[in-house]
Amino acid sequence: MQILDGKKISNQIKEEIAVEVAEMKERGEKVPHLAAVLVGNDGASLTYVGSKVRSCKKIGFESTLVHLPEETTEEELLAHVQRLNADDAIDGYIVQLPLPKHIDEQKVLMAVYPDKDVDGFHPTNFGKMALDMESFIPATPFGIMELLRRNKVETAGKHAVVIGRSHIVGRPMSILMSQKGEAANCTVTLTHSRTKDIKSLTLQADIIISALGVPNFLKADMVKDGAVIIDVGITRVPDETKERGYYITGDVDFENVSKKASFITPVPGGVGPMTIAMLLKNTLLARERHRSRK
Ligand code: GUN
Repeated sequence: MQILDGKKISNQIKEEIAVEVAEMKERGEKVPHLAAVLVGNDGASLTYVGSKVRSCKKIGFESTLVHLPEETTEEELLAHVQRLNADDAIDGYIVQLPLPKHIDEQKVLMAVYPDKDVDGFHPTNFGKMALDMESFIPATPFGIMELLRRNKVETAGKHAVVIGRSHIVGRPMSILMSQKGEAANCTVTLTHSRTKDIKSLTLQADIIISALGVPNFLKADMVKDGAVIIDVGITRVPDETKERGYYITGDVDFENVSKKASFITPVPGGVGPMTIAMLLKNTLLARERHRSRK
């Protein structure tokens, strides 16, 4: 069994980007600038956005955090989005999800200028991705593909079972794994809450990508020997013995599933760090595309 070490690979990617940024600085060019919009004070979102901004600083990117109060109206948020669309200093930005319930998430994501949409959530980017055209690929699926590529995991002709049909992970993952190319060319089954007898499907899988957010969902008796296991779950479980008051766990019963797996991602330290690295990669791409439009 081999651990797919997302922390190590994400650090490599960040180092590669940092080298490019240092060269831009030497040439006297503007460095990539990522902005993040956060509405409210959801604990997990604060952690993720904080981590994204810190990573920007570390590799030499400019970053801007637009932190708005929970009671921000949809109209006010849309005005911020329009400002970011028009701001020539910003190469790319994200609106952290989930948004408060009184705001229509789809309306906000539709307002993001596609060329600055480094999350790849706008229908233009999602559609281009599905058609194998140049786009921004959502950071978590992009990170999983990169993790498979850099670890030379064989995927061609394999049966990949994706668990979860979210717009952020499961749905794009199912598209990417079925496409032509490195770390792809799979036969894909996309499963979800209405799937009947999911175990009969996961038992046939060469690769399982679980993006459900249910701790310990995937157990050893659901997995065949030698399967590749990608755990996208990041759930906070309350635990008073921990200083933070919780611990982080994935969807997979790691202790038992790892005994059968050929490759497996840990949680934390697997998919999570890759998501941030690929957001930075998308920002680098956004800067190049921004410069080519001038
Ligand atoms: N919430 C959970 N994952 C993500 C992500 O990748 N991007 C944004 N913007 N929000 C998220």
